[in-house]
Amino acid sequence: MTDHSLAAQIEQVRRSAGARLAVADSVAALEELRLALLGRGGELTALLRGMAGLPDADRPVIGELANQVRREIEATLSTRLAALRTVELDAQLAGEAIDMSAPGRPLRIGHLHPTMTAERDLREIFHAFGFEVFEGPEIETEAMNFEALNMPPDHPARDLWDTLYVAEPGSVEGGAPRPAVDGTILRTHTSPAQIRAMHALQPPIRVIVPGRCFRYEAVDASHNFEFFQVEGLVVDETTSLADLKGMLEEFARALYGADTRTRFRPGYYPFTEPSVAFDVACLVCGGPGCPACGRSGWMTILGAGMVHPVVLRAGGIDPDRYQGYAFGMGLDRMAILRHGIPDLRLLMGADLRFLTQFSGGR
Ligand code: PHE
Repeated sequence: MTDHSLAAQIEQVRRSAGARLAVADSVAALEELRLALLGRGGELTALLRGMAGLPDADRPVIGELANQVRREIEATLSTRLAALRTVELDAQLAGEAIDMSAPGRPLRIGHLHPTMTAERDLREIFHAFGFEVFEGPEIETEAMNFEALNMPPDHPARDLWDTLYVAEPGSVEGGAPRPAVDGTILRTHTSPAQIRAMHALQPPIRVIVPGRCFRYEAVDASHNFEFFQVEGLVVDETTSLADLKGMLEEFARALYGADTRTRFRPGYYPFTEPSVAFDVACLVCGGPGCPACGRSGWMTILGAGMVHPVVLRAGGIDPDRYQGYAFGMGLDRMAILRHGIPDLRLLMGADLRFLTQFSGGR
C-alpha cells in the first residue's frame, strides 16, 4: 500500500501544482512555487525521499512517475515565466512611454557675461592688429605692482591706487593686521603684467592683458572693489607716440564706429613718459554735453603713454635700443556704457533677472 499511497501523493502534487502554477501572477510568485515544489525542502523532493522504503520492484515505476511530474512542473514553470516576463515588460514599457508629441522642456543655456562680451570684442579688434593675449596673476607682489613700474616704496603716486594688501598670517587674529612681509597684494591694475610680458617674450612685443583687478574702494554705482582691465603693451625699436595715437584711434573706430571723434590729453602715470588720457566723444550725448560726461562732451576711456625707461629696464629691456607704448582701460565701464546700465554693481550681482537680458550678445 505504501507504494500506492506514494504514487497517489505524487499525483496529488501534480494536480495541486498545476492549479497553483496557473494562478501565480508574478515572476516572484513563480519562483516561490518552484522552491515550494522542487526546492531542497520542496513537496516533490520530500516524497522522493520516501522512495527509500519502497520494494525494489516498485522503485523504478514510482521514480519514473516522480521524474515525469518534475519535468511537467518545470515545463509549466518556464512557460508561465516567459508569459509573465512579457506581461511585466509590456507594463514597464507602457509606464515609461515617451509622448513624442509633448512640447520639449526648455534647456537653460548659459551665455557670456556682458563684461566678457566686451572683453571678447577687444580681443578680436587687437587680434586683427597683431596683438597676442598674455596673462598675469591676480595676486601680485608690491614689487611688480609698484616698484617695477617706477613707484619705489613711499612714492606718493602709490596713493593713486587704493591697494588691498594681503595680511601677514596670524596678524588678523590679533586685531592689528599687518601687510604680508613678502609684499603680497591684489593687483590694482594689469600693468604689472607689462613687466612679466617683457621677461617672457622677445621684442617685437605686441600683447594685450585682460584680467581682474582689485582696489580698496568705497563701493557705489560707479566704483567697485573688483573690476576688469585690458592692458596693452608694444615694444619695438621704432615705437613712437604717433604709433600709439594711430593705434588708439583705429581701436576707437573699430569699437565705436568709423566716425568716432577722439582726442589725446596730457595725463600722468609714473610708468609712462609722456602719459596721456585718451577720450572719445561722449557715448551718451555724442558731444553737446550731458550728465554722463560731466557736460564736457568727452569721455576718457583709457590711460596710455610711452613706456618709461625705468620700466623697460625692470623688464630686462635696453631702453637705448627699444621703445614701447602701453595703455590700460576698464572693461566694466565699457560694458555699462554700451548697454545703458545705470549701476556698476549690477555686473557683479549674479542676479539672473539682470544677466539674462544680455543673452543676445556673444
Ligand atoms: N594702469 C593704469 C591704471 O590702472 C592705466 C595705464 C596702463 C596707464 C598703461 C598707462 C599705461 O590706471
